[in-house]
Amino acid sequence: MFTLDQVVPWGRSFDEYGAMFALTADDLARRILGCGDGPASFNAEASRRGTTVISCDPIYRFSREAIGSRIAATYDQVIEQIRENHSDFVWEAIPTPEELGRRRLEAMGAFLDDYPAGVAQGRYVEATLPFLPFADASFELALCSHLLFLYSLQLDAAFHRASLLELVRVAQEVRVFPLLTLGGELSPHLEESGAALRAEGCTVAIEPVPYEFQRGGNAMLRIRRPAS
Ligand SMILES: C[S@@+](CC[C@H](N)C(=O)[O-])C[C@H]1O[C@@H](n2cnc3c(N)ncnc32)[C@H](O)[C@@H]1O
Repeated sequence: MFTLDQVVPWGRSFDEYGAMFALTADDLARRILGCGDGPASFNAEASRRGTTVISCDPIYRFSREAIGSRIAATYDQVIEQIRENHSDFVWEAIPTPEELGRRRLEAMGAFLDDYPAGVAQGRYVEATLPFLPFADASFELALCSHLLFLYSLQLDAAFHRASLLELVRVAQEVRVFPLLTLGGELSPHLEESGAALRAEGCTVAIEPVPYEFQRGGNAMLRIRRPAS
């Protein structure tokens, strides 16, 4: 059973999603799925700008209060870990751990403010990879930030393969960032997942993006499924 105790809620902003996934104005005009969006403010900010976005995550089975309490309970621990591993990160766009914390709290605050209305509008949907409750080709673009590949030690090769195939079932194009594990190594599941996707006729490419916080993590995976 999935519990909130297993999750360290940590959410990025619309601007960070824009950079991590090299999003263009044309991309933002597409129907987007954010898979594993958690407490990111991408949905809140993109929806306000007129983009059609649905976010899915197992934590959306919980109330705003429960998610907010979990953010408060884990925040100091996350910032402490980042201080301890300071040299693993590129402190340019974000200059200090304190500024990182401020930006993350701002993004997660925007998510929490938007969450009740977003749930009512169907923009936050409870779902857990590798199974998504959406029809084939429901989306033009799916984004998956800081879940697949990052947790390569916790989530095995079969999970990655099944999850990526599920994402290309529901979306014409899928982008995943980062391609590194939590330890900063290239994911051991990248090659095999790519082969499984190509075997289904997908095109798979690793592309540089204008975002690097985890040192060396400045590339995304772009997958396009064959036209049906
Ligand atoms: C590190 S957070 C990243 C949040 C957001 N994507 C971002 O980059 O700011 C990872 C998220 O993945 C979600 N998650 C964990 N297991 C999942 C699964 N099997 N399917 C979908 N989401 C999952 C967690 O609940 C959490 O919100």
